[in-house]
Amino acid sequence: MPAEKRISDAELAARVVRPAFGEVLTEHMVSVQWSAEQGWHQAEIVPYAPMLIDPAMVGLHYGQVVFEGLKAYRQPDGSVAAFRAVDHARRFQRSATRLAMPEPPVELFLDALAELVAADRRWVPEDDTKSLYLRPILYATDPSLALRPGTRYRLLVLAMVTETFFGEGAPPVSVWASTRYARAARGGTGEAKCAGNYAGGFVAQVEAVEHGCRQVVWLDAAEHTWVEEMGGMNIFFGYGDHLVTPPLSGTLLPGITRSSVLTLATELGMTVEERMLSLAQWRADCASHAMTEAFACGTAAVITPVGHVAAESGEFRIGDGRPGPAAARLRTALVGVQRGRVPDRHGWRH
Ligand code: COI
Repeated sequence: MPAEKRISDAELAARVVRPAFGEVLTEHMVSVQWSAEQGWHQAEIVPYAPMLIDPAMVGLHYGQVVFEGLKAYRQPDGSVAAFRAVDHARRFQRSATRLAMPEPPVELFLDALAELVAADRRWVPEDDTKSLYLRPILYATDPSLALRPGTRYRLLVLAMVTETFFGEGAPPVSVWASTRYARAARGGTGEAKCAGNYAGGFVAQVEAVEHGCRQVVWLDAAEHTWVEEMGGMNIFFGYGDHLVTPPLSGTLLPGITRSSVLTLATELGMTVEERMLSLAQWRADCASHAMTEAFACGTAAVITPVGHVAAESGEFRIGDGRPGPAAARLRTALVGVQRGRVPDRHGWRH
């Protein structure tokens, strides 16, 4: 199907003035089918629109659903580059494998992104505060309540225009350390980007908001002691120019932005350490002023300072509660590569 314009330029411009995360979807989407007999087939670009699903669909009942989130940025020469698309494709494959689904080939994933960006090119924002967020999703479509993996799947790629997750110019976020709920246990699905991980986190996110916080911060499931990650992003702790982030133990999401921060921090002359940090130590390091800042990082969040922590055991402030210098330097470096302002030394722009 040809990718025709479905709304006017004026309507488009009005929709993207302050695009909150998740709210401004573009005009098209990619759809690809998979079946045991035919493999990947019927790849097409179609208008973004509600779809018919079978009420007994496996993905709906048993949560056999994985997704990705990556961004495409307008470059200074007017072209469009997706950030670390191959790394996202590989993580999508690992998530699919963990949920007993077929792995979408990297080329298929990249072609789907390219087709969608070409069809919705006029939606790729020109200004620096916004980007085009791409959301590949794979789910089992078999109409069956039998408790077994699907034999038919659908891969969709949606796109939306967005500001950063917390909104442009938002103050440092406050986080609620959940000791009542857990996100992921050893051997579970914590390192897969599966829909159920997010659904399972909503109750703690609601609890966070009830305590006046914008995000949950997860502790390990076994001891409720060790900081793991935030609701939809990884976390870093800053001790001056020394950064600490929880190691990829198998229970937290291996963030692509997390990996970029580790690389860029070293290039900026900072030192980085992947080690566990307990909530108690976090509090003690803030009390002694050894910890100077903390920040969240992710595709949606980019790099967002964290200023305040609350938990059943009490609250504390990180540094002076204001954005820290390490987060600011890293954000400038990261956004510079994403938006094509600095050379791409690692082949991250696709
Ligand atoms: C992303 O950063 O792309 C994510 O997937 C997290 C989002 C659901 C908030």
